[in-house]
Amino acid sequence: MGEGLSEIDPNSFSNPEQCIVTDIHINVEVDFSRKILKGYVDLSVERKNPKADLVLDTRDLNVINVRNKNTLSKMAFTLGEPVENFGRKLEIKLPKRISKKYNIRIDYETAPHSTALQWLEPCQTAGKKHPYLFSQCEPIHARSMLPCQDTPGVKTTYTASITAPYELTVLMSAVRDGEEIDDDPLMKKYKFIQKVPIPSYLIAIVVGALESRELGPRSHIWSEKEYVDKAAEEFSETEKMLSIAEKLLGEYVWEVYDLLLLPPSFPVGGMENPCLTFLTPTLLAGDKSLVDVVAHEIAHSWTGNLVTNRNFEHFWLKEGFTNFIENKIIGSMHGEPARHFRALEGWKELEYAIETLGDQNPLTKLVPDLKGVDPDDAFSSVPYEKGHTLLYYLETLLGGPDVFDEFLKAYIDEYKYQSIDTDTWKNYLYKYFSEKEDILKKIDWNAWLYSPGMPPVKPEYDCSLAQKCVDLCNRWINAGENDLEQFSIKDIAEFSSPQCREFLSLLLQQEPLSVKKMEKLTDAYNLRENHNSEIRFRWIRLGLKSQWKEIIDPALKFVTNIGRMKFVRPIYRDMYEWNETREKAVLNYHEHSKEMMYMTAFALAKDLQISED
Ligand code: BES
Ligand code: ZN
Repeated sequence: MGEGLSEIDPNSFSNPEQCIVTDIHINVEVDFSRKILKGYVDLSVERKNPKADLVLDTRDLNVINVRNKNTLSKMAFTLGEPVENFGRKLEIKLPKRISKKYNIRIDYETAPHSTALQWLEPCQTAGKKHPYLFSQCEPIHARSMLPCQDTPGVKTTYTASITAPYELTVLMSAVRDGEEIDDDPLMKKYKFIQKVPIPSYLIAIVVGALESRELGPRSHIWSEKEYVDKAAEEFSETEKMLSIAEKLLGEYVWEVYDLLLLPPSFPVGGMENPCLTFLTPTLLAGDKSLVDVVAHEIAHSWTGNLVTNRNFEHFWLKEGFTNFIENKIIGSMHGEPARHFRALEGWKELEYAIETLGDQNPLTKLVPDLKGVDPDDAFSSVPYEKGHTLLYYLETLLGGPDVFDEFLKAYIDEYKYQSIDTDTWKNYLYKYFSEKEDILKKIDWNAWLYSPGMPPVKPEYDCSLAQKCVDLCNRWINAGENDLEQFSIKDIAEFSSPQCREFLSLLLQQEPLSVKKMEKLTDAYNLRENHNSEIRFRWIRLGLKSQWKEIIDPALKFVTNIGRMKFVRPIYRDMYEWNETREKAVLNYHEHSKEMMYMTAFALAKDLQISED
């Protein structure tokens, strides 16, 4: 385990401290018939150690040639043995001459089962006429799309020239830089430029029959035409959230902020690809109640994309911070109680996650050790919520939002365009608050950063909005089986959508409801007809926990129609727990795993204890 992996990033083979890639040009053709990208990448390389060779990450790539880009003469390279989850090391021999800069061209193809790419057949799209391709590179899948130093410690600018069928649109995590006709009249070339240095996990591509609508002065929403108007309505607050974030964190440097609404199999809720946030269609609630995900991805434009974590052990530096800022944006739109409500919801989410993972589980540390660990396996809400809690705690301790907001801005300004680790952040905190060192010294840093389990301190939150959810939950728990007439839609008439969802979350953390209560809950609050994905998700989980037979069909439909792992994994796990549904879940998985993105299928196979062929 861990063979050949880097000292500074346990999830990458690369050696940026010796030889670093500074710019990438991607020139590939999108071949839908073979489900591959084929072409070349040009890498600008700076050698820091005159003897070092260039080391890159690859996974399932067919490396055809390595050449000197200027002379096109071949260069020697070796591909290491595949290492599970991490791919193969690609070592390129650099000439003995002492030259600090090199331009290298790598001719290559991806594999149809590239872990970063999902190739959809026309029947899997809304329009049913054209194929569709999208990528998801975070955390370490960029290496299966192109040979690169696949560590967030390395940031590069990039340009791209992508050849694709002329009737489709290509977009990337970059600014569009025009289109050109191709020698082949059925193909078109799309060009892109990303002038801000970014880590490899932010390289992204989508190819499909896309349309767009304007959302604001720097924003468009893109999707298949069937969804585009609905999406434009749902995300109409984008510019508002962007300007709140800018006030909070400083200038938005990415020029464009577009949104892309993907087909249902997109595996995450949102992905902060620069210039083009990717979103799951499960956010189309019809009432803008799920746009906090957009606020979150907007916040990444500073925390994550400008100030980046050096490797995935410091993932909380992006997700904890971004969660914290997301809550500030929502607070600024809906008031401070809304922010506290969300913070408290997050705290409970953290309790639930730690209970599930085990409070001694090393992956519940804010800064885990990822040697030999696939960062996909390490993923949980811990970095989001423990990170948020630490920042909230510090904010309270150090003088409240006014003082802490200034710190956040200064911190981003200090480390923008860089990749840092937790110590760097902490040292800056001490420097910035040097007059408050006595306060900082009392913090149990070891517990917060390096110990498993719940944080050492629970901050105080305003419970006004949350209390109503707790009260209603208690009423349900305490009600006798023959005393269910008391419940009606009036109970939740004044609830916001987040309150409904929190109420259901609280019920989920209790002992299972009886089938009778489950039926009454469903009828009283019209849950069968509720298609808000967050609410439906919790209703289905409650039903499965209650072993309520009526829920089996909706549960199977839900997990078949969507690929968002946050929803699909717990439901599959719940179905696996119940004898009545175990076999159905496994069968359903086998029937549909081909339609899923690799990472979803892979995670579910583990959850369902299915061994790979
Ligand atoms: N960057 C993450 C998504 C991600 C994390 C992808 C790790 C792959 C590996 C994104 O910003 C995110 O956190 N999305 C959340 C939504 C957010 C509101 C918590 C999601 O997808 O649910
Ligand atoms: Zn995030």
